[in-house]
Amino acid sequence: MNILIIESTCDETAAAVVTDQLEVLGSVVASQDKLHERFRGVVPEIAARAHLERMLPVIDETLEKSGIALRDVDAIAVAHTPGLAGSLLIGVVTAKTLAMALGVPIIGINHLYGHIYACRLAAGKDVFPCVGLVVSGGHTSLYDCQSPLEFNLLGGTIDDAAGEAFDKVASMLGLPFPGGPHVGRVASQGNPQSFQLPRSFIHDQDRLQFSFSGLKTAVRYQLAAPGEDLPPGETLDEKLVADLAASFQAAVVDCLVAKSMAALSKTGHSRLCVGGGVAANRHLRAELEKCCAQTGHELVIAPLQLCTDNAVMGAIAIEKLRAGLVDDLELDAQPGLIR
Ligand code: KG4
Ligand code: ZN
Repeated sequence: MNILIIESTCDETAAAVVTDQLEVLGSVVASQDKLHERFRGVVPEIAARAHLERMLPVIDETLEKSGIALRDVDAIAVAHTPGLAGSLLIGVVTAKTLAMALGVPIIGINHLYGHIYACRLAAGKDVFPCVGLVVSGGHTSLYDCQSPLEFNLLGGTIDDAAGEAFDKVASMLGLPFPGGPHVGRVASQGNPQSFQLPRSFIHDQDRLQFSFSGLKTAVRYQLAAPGEDLPPGETLDEKLVADLAASFQAAVVDCLVAKSMAALSKTGHSRLCVGGGVAANRHLRAELEKCCAQTGHELVIAPLQLCTDNAVMGAIAIEKLRAGLVDDLELDAQPGLIR
């Protein structure tokens, strides 16, 4: 069976064809970074319009790469939650139209669960049960993943997502959008001990939550006093930028690692699976590896090409299909997080 997967939750228009044996036949990701760059953040209206323009060409290219025709598609899957309303709508309407025209089943998938399922694809073997950590631009959440069909939320951020904090700190430091990779790059030249920045709830083992908004403000106050304007990024001293980026990155990573380890203790699971754009961060990967090696937990981190948004991770739809959990044309975009 060939499953055509559609992803348009935020600012990447993506499609993939994956077989029911989890073989990836083809995958295309059209990034919108250039469109949002000058705003230093994703502009929802621009994202939705770009999805509309790109969706069909992306699907055509995916089918071509996969060496199949539209009539060879046996099921359609679409990430319908969570995400930007206008962006989700383009994917959902496209998926429903194709499913209706082809007379094939449609399966709605949770984008965040897809980020964890990227680990299943990378491992090439079952990774459930496990603790799942999703660290993306919009979410930072820990799950007790009993199976690919049962994700129970253990806790998440009470304000900003880790990726959002990376992007805003990058903007304050005069680095390009999306900021995560740039903060990571300059941080590798800096001293992470230069600035003492807050690590919310880090000593409270029982609290599986994150907060990055105070950290963001703490970084801002290193650059300008409360009430004062930020200095233009290009006027900042290179060493200051590197040291502040390194100190910020260390604070985020310390929290992510501490809470992941606490979630492992709480659930008793022996495996940690990590996905989402921020999982591409080198320092985070290295620290998780170090910690899991010390405690004897198995660690699976999504490979770099499956960390940031893509359609391949939507292969979690195959698990739903096998279990008979298909949707119908009532499937709708659900911008809010379904717990
Ligand atoms: O998962 P993703 O592609 O989109 C969402 O579902 O939100 O994540 C995008 C986020 C952005 O905030 C981006 O800055 C961050 O992932 N990111 C990184 C790195 N690569 C991407 N953050 C830190 N280090 C990186 N290497
Ligand atoms: Zn994502």
